[in-house]
Amino acid sequence: MKNVVVLVGSLSATSVNRKLARTLEKLAAGRLVFDFVDLGALPHYDNDLWANPPAAVLDLKARVEAADGVLIATPEYNRSFPGVLKNAMDWASRPYAQSSWMHLPAAVIGATPGATGTAAGQGHLRSILPVYGLLVMGQPEVYFNMKPGLITDELEITDDTTAGFLNGWVDTFVAFIDRHGKPAKIEAVAAE
Ligand code: FNR
Repeated sequence: MKNVVVLVGSLSATSVNRKLARTLEKLAAGRLVFDFVDLGALPHYDNDLWANPPAAVLDLKARVEAADGVLIATPEYNRSFPGVLKNAMDWASRPYAQSSWMHLPAAVIGATPGATGTAAGQGHLRSILPVYGLLVMGQPEVYFNMKPGLITDELEITDDTTAGFLNGWVDTFVAFIDRHGKPAKIEAVAAE
């Protein structure tokens, strides 16, 4: 079974982005295992800390390097993505030439209680992910409007169209990881 490291760009206990990611985890059961990282455990990025790296940083890098794929669930903050997410991305990209992200297949999703569905925030995020060496899944995009009752506390989707869309998204992400995951990563590294 493939292992997906999950970054949720919200520290809120009631995060709609975490809820959406948990819903996808449920839909992917038996095909993907989701490993949720606690971004709140990471210090602010400080290059000087590499002299004695914080345990949370080493844990993040180990979990990314053990993964077959990456899922990023991002809120939109002021038409961009949250700083906690950038902080985690930057930590795992270092030390220089030892990035943990290289060649990993990645997908981005985002949820908001409002109507704009994180499109602007995801746009900012997607523009930098290739810099980290991630292979980003372009379609289907997920700009999720988390309306009250659409997904229950038990992660049941109450609308058939939404359930069909999210199931299709999971199918595509599984295929994307199969196509671009570990074997491609090993070949790419060997060619360097
Ligand atoms: C927001 N929110 C927000 N929503 C949006 O659609 N576009 C935006 O630009 C912003 N900007 C923004 C800035 C800041 C600092 C906060 C705290 C919030 C609202 C946001 O979508 C809402 O709080 C979501 O519930 C955040 O996602 P989580 O934490 O529930 O996953």
